[in-house]
Amino acid sequence: MYKVLVAERISDKGVDMLRAQPDFQVDVQLDWTREQLLREIPAYDAIVVRSVTKINEEFYEHATNLKVVGRAGNGVDNIQMEGATKRGIIVVNTPESNIISACEHTIGLLLASCRNTVRAHKMIESRTWNRDGLKGMELYGKTLGIIGLGRIGGLLSTRMQAFGMKIIAYDPYIADSRFKKYNARKCETLEDLLRNADVISIHTPKTDETMNMITYKEWQQCKKGVRVVNCARGGLYNEQDLARAIREGIVASAGIDVLVDEPNPISPLIDLPQCVLTPHLGADTYEAQDNVGLAIAEEVIAALHGEMVANAVNLPALQASELEKVKVQLTLGEDLGKLYYQLAHEAIEKVEVIYSGAMADMETDMITRAVLKGVFEPVLKERVNYVNALLTAGSRGVEVVESKENDTRELLRVNLYTKAGKFTVAGTAASDGTIRIKDIDGYQFDLEPAPFMLAVNNADKPGMIGRLGTVLGAENINIGNMQVSRNAKEGIAMMIMTVDSVVEGHTLETIRSFEGITNAANIRM
Ligand code: NAD
Ligand code: MLT
Repeated sequence: MYKVLVAERISDKGVDMLRAQPDFQVDVQLDWTREQLLREIPAYDAIVVRSVTKINEEFYEHATNLKVVGRAGNGVDNIQMEGATKRGIIVVNTPESNIISACEHTIGLLLASCRNTVRAHKMIESRTWNRDGLKGMELYGKTLGIIGLGRIGGLLSTRMQAFGMKIIAYDPYIADSRFKKYNARKCETLEDLLRNADVISIHTPKTDETMNMITYKEWQQCKKGVRVVNCARGGLYNEQDLARAIREGIVASAGIDVLVDEPNPISPLIDLPQCVLTPHLGADTYEAQDNVGLAIAEEVIAALHGEMVANAVNLPALQASELEKVKVQLTLGEDLGKLYYQLAHEAIEKVEVIYSGAMADMETDMITRAVLKGVFEPVLKERVNYVNALLTAGSRGVEVVESKENDTRELLRVNLYTKAGKFTVAGTAASDGTIRIKDIDGYQFDLEPAPFMLAVNNADKPGMIGRLGTVLGAENINIGNMQVSRNAKEGIAMMIMTVDSVVEGHTLETIRSFEGITNAANIRM
């Protein structure tokens, strides 16, 4: 039974979807204090949060059973990623589910702040009908400067062109084609954008580089009377400096959805009449919350069940369709990796993963992680998964090298280097989902892996197969398939048998005691 804690509000549809899983116990606890959360979290396998819960080192130290952090939303700045990755905790989010709502709220804040809507409403509330001091600004024909032309920035660009705005954008991390796609003039520098925009909207993530990206110095470079919006993250515009720029008339109005100190803001912007503020409402629509709730439920279910997760933040970014394409190769990689420590015992110093054929053009990062997961899982007490496989190798001093061969043969080859030399395993995966092991330590096979296998190295002489069959028969162990490979090492052959159940230790001992048998080991897949 997996225990899932929903610690911040998500839609009922999302909670219902989680609860519909027969192996899930779901607790919705929206009012727990930090102390309660830290006390109770050891019992949980997954937690679902939004932007308020701080998932940091202190949290991870208590969350000893945690496997998944579900971020119901986009920004993951409240989640300390390194701590999750080193513990093999998968962090999933829902980056696409609320972007339309966030974009529409950006536009709402822009219009409200340009037209003094909130101040006007307050006046009417106080039964004052007075238009003095409420004159606004038209957007038509003005230039909108978008900082960060990602998902929301892109949506904003398209929508604001319908208002007759010209779009300029600053985003040094995207290709020129994206500027073209959104019909935005590319600003090579932030200063270019600041000097030319009548309205500025920021849509970057919160990073070390973007926090306090716009300070008083930057506001001084802007047109006097510029209008600004922040519906991304608190502090991208330094709040003190923005307040100063507003007081000095450099900035005419500001629409702000996000503040540095959420949910207990102490910002100087709150008391300025030129500001329209909302309490992080960008994603708070029925539609976005339904989308986010269902999307995060799907992700948490998949992650806990060990299935493919499309939006895993601490894994290579792969579309669900791309993941589907490498599914068989992931199994192949993991199966090959699992062979090593079941057949050999020397500590590994380097793992070389070589791809050829169509595999070389696939998302090999995930396949390499699968190989490492297979290698380390049988010998490590701590959990090894796709998330921490590379870190696990690194922390054990194992160098990982990936290369691609220009060879039409479809093959995944793994060379494991130890002080004693090189151990090679190789295999192939067909489009119909079948996997074949082709090489184990230089011995050639064409073997479909099975859950229970027995590997035996023996002197290449008559009578060995018969003796083995007799022992296994006496123990009532059925042999499904058997292959013998010769000539890899002088005078020593290798037999691999698929068997119906694990071969017990005493039977292995009997086999090993036969003259001419140099090794006998179970292989579990
Ligand atoms: P995204 O990742 O699609 O786009 C972000 C863009 O910012 C990228 O194109 C990136 O290249 C660019 N960028 C990064 N650093 C930059 C820098 N130094 N200068 C210029 N550009 C830079 O993100 P998104 O989905 O569009 O979300 C944008 C922001 O909105 C995020 O901060 C997200 O957390 C926030 N958000 C807020 C709400 C809300 O409720 N207010 C809802 C959803 C998203
Ligand atoms: C997000 O990053 O998705 C937004 O901040 C919205 C939210 O967390 O609700």
